[in-house]
Amino acid sequence: MANPYIQQGHTEDCLHERKEYLAGKKLIICANRAPFQFEKDQDEEYIFERGSGGLVTALLGLTQNIDATWIACAQSSADRELTSVHVPLDPDIPEHTIHIKFLSPTAEAYEGYYNVIANPLLWFLQHSMWNVPTSPIINRATWNAWDDGYVAVNKLFARAIIEATREYPGTKLVMLQDYHLYLTARHVRDAIPPRSRPTLLHFIHIPWPGPEYWRILPPNMRFSILDSLCAVDILGFQTNADGLNFIRTCESFLPKAYVNFKHGRIWYRNHATYVRDFPISIDVDSIKNQVRSPEVVEYRSEIESNTEDFNVIVRVDRIEPSKNIVRGFLAFEELLDLHPEHCGNVHFLAYLVPSRLGVEEYNEYLDNINATAGRVNAKYGDSDWEPVRIIIGENYDRALAALQIYDVLLVNAIADGMNLVAKEGPIINQHNGVLILSESAGANQQLGAGAIVIPPCDVYATAEAMHQALIMPESEKREKAHLLKWRIEKEDIVDWLCRQLQTIEELGL
Ligand code: G6P
Repeated sequence: MANPYIQQGHTEDCLHERKEYLAGKKLIICANRAPFQFEKDQDEEYIFERGSGGLVTALLGLTQNIDATWIACAQSSADRELTSVHVPLDPDIPEHTIHIKFLSPTAEAYEGYYNVIANPLLWFLQHSMWNVPTSPIINRATWNAWDDGYVAVNKLFARAIIEATREYPGTKLVMLQDYHLYLTARHVRDAIPPRSRPTLLHFIHIPWPGPEYWRILPPNMRFSILDSLCAVDILGFQTNADGLNFIRTCESFLPKAYVNFKHGRIWYRNHATYVRDFPISIDVDSIKNQVRSPEVVEYRSEIESNTEDFNVIVRVDRIEPSKNIVRGFLAFEELLDLHPEHCGNVHFLAYLVPSRLGVEEYNEYLDNINATAGRVNAKYGDSDWEPVRIIIGENYDRALAALQIYDVLLVNAIADGMNLVAKEGPIINQHNGVLILSESAGANQQLGAGAIVIPPCDVYATAEAMHQALIMPESEKREKAHLLKWRIEKEDIVDWLCRQLQTIEELGL
């Protein structure tokens, strides 16, 4: 499903033009998390920190000079107290603010919405991780979490959007983000009369598997999700394959939906939803600036002093079963077994960030990671050489330092919407390091040609890919590294945003 509306290679100019299109109108962004986290300091004053990541950077870039409201769930007691706050985007221009509206579902509703339905039920389904003979078990507790959690929180978002469009009749565009908000659009579409209805765009950051996987969900849940997603005007996915899978899912499970694969369009309840792919990326300039910071420079020299005479394999991931961290260690074990010449010469550094600890599966996975790495170290290590080193903690500067010096970067996710580490690494790496990339990561669509692509469950193939990467001639490494840099620079985060806004304009929405 090639996107017929999009040209390649957008720039800041493109964003500027799109801002003009939105000027004087209201933009609403909805996501589970807000772009800023608030806390109170010792003097009971509110302080805030900007969330990390390209998504926040890109969307905040767009909201400069534009009247924008970002609706999100409160994550702290400070968020809950604030309810509604205007945050300056640039300390030098205090009148440029973004309005943040915090929703405060009850603790039980949030628990059901986030820790039962969004993660793990939908997340595991969309990353093909359920072991169907045994899980998931959808019981009464799951249904309660659906009704009183997921449905309820989605209604809260819908109500906030409806109120905002009443308050600001010039609302032009609503950008919904991700799998937490699948049920929001239907309520919005049904409640706002066509004349005052804004364009609805929903971008799904995670993979969309084929209809076979969606059979895991009971028909009611499945129907509600598809019915609501077909209430948006544009549905964005990371890859072409995700979009096609969505259309196939509607064809299989949404009665009265007329699907058109060629035009990427679903006609349903007298309304057209356009399905497009907008591969997300990173903020190339900002990451290049950040690696020049004294913090990153210091971390880098610390890592280098510990790894001086070694080859270095690096991975940077949330502690997350879909990232396939355990198989990565098993592949390293197989490498040392098959190619003993690497023993004593290679360090595998795994930078892991704790994630979703309220979900049981994530805690179990961390135990498994530690046990596997411990076993590999006991089997091959000695007093001079620790084969695998796990470094746990949220420290972006340290991760960037490691990404600058890898010889091999392992991204072997079982399934991944995009995987931004696969883009961050090659942009800042200084060793012409080789990217080993899962064929099931969305990044493979753009970066496969510059990487060694592996099937993520094949530990033997991953071990051989590690070997190939470690012995690759310098000229081949340089060629691959250049190709990756070129692809990533060409389609950065501004491009991702421009493609969406340009598509809206081209479709006349
Ligand atoms: C990953 C996914 C995003 C998702 C986010 C939620 O980064 O790629 O699609 O929105 O996780 O993370 P959280 O920590 O809020 O559960």
